[in-house]
Amino acid sequence: MLDYHDDLRLAHVLADAADAATMERFKALDLKVETKPDMTPVSEADKAAEELIRTSLQRTRPRDAVLGEEFGTEGHGPRRWVIDPIDGTKNYVRGVPVWATLIALMEMGEGGDRPVVGVVSAPALNRRWWAAKGSGAYSGRSLSKATRLEVSKVAEVRDASFAYSSLHGWEERGMLGGFMDLTRDCWRTRGYGDFWPYMMVAEGSVDMCAEPELSLWDMAASAVIVEEAGGTFTGLDGNPGPHSGNAAASNGLLHETLLSYLTA
Ligand code: IPD
Ligand code: CA
Ligand code: CA
Ligand code: CA
Repeated sequence: MLDYHDDLRLAHVLADAADAATMERFKALDLKVETKPDMTPVSEADKAAEELIRTSLQRTRPRDAVLGEEFGTEGHGPRRWVIDPIDGTKNYVRGVPVWATLIALMEMGEGGDRPVVGVVSAPALNRRWWAAKGSGAYSGRSLSKATRLEVSKVAEVRDASFAYSSLHGWEERGMLGGFMDLTRDCWRTRGYGDFWPYMMVAEGSVDMCAEPELSLWDMAASAVIVEEAGGTFTGLDGNPGPHSGNAAASNGLLHETLLSYLTA
């Protein structure tokens, strides 16, 4: 089995640098925020964190490709780092602490490229989650002080807790009916935003979550963390991994049921 320990260690170092840059600007009264062509906000902290990560990767992994939300693709090859410098920018710019830097390493394998390392670092919550393929998923503040993550064992939808990040997109995709049926049939539904539902699935505090519109950088790190915690991560089409433009994550036991509700 391949050993991703060095890559995981590097991902933590990258996350440390990003945490310093994002925390320095969090709640700054003079934070510069622009509006992107898709009308979503981007702050100077999003750009600074991604630049720091890219600069560090150019030095430490010059042969690897990089894809980041704010500065696009650089290089090509069988390994690429996929970066969302701040997931939850709308929270960040309003001073809500639920945002995280998402760092994934993807590697080309038999079934296409799949995430093999993921770190989700949420410094304003004082939380970090991570995983490397074949080595399990963990949370804590450092590699040496960590708790192993395990998904829940809830198998019936009536006992299950369902989380979503956003209400956008369900209606446009013709899935609002199924979404409402699921919220009616399950034990509890809550909206937690951004990366948060996926991390709760990984740690077993939520049993399933889904979102209809996402980019690769929104999902890559979460996918390997959920899978290494024993869960299942697919698109709403059931295809494994973070390539479908949307996401469904669960403890595995509930996955077919989750997908059966969320069909167009
Ligand atoms: C957004 C968040 C949000 C999702 C959006 C994303 P950003 O990412 O992941 O939960 O609904 O589609 O764009 O812009 O805060 O990194
Ligand atoms: Ca994002
Ligand atoms: Ca972002
Ligand atoms: Ca964004």
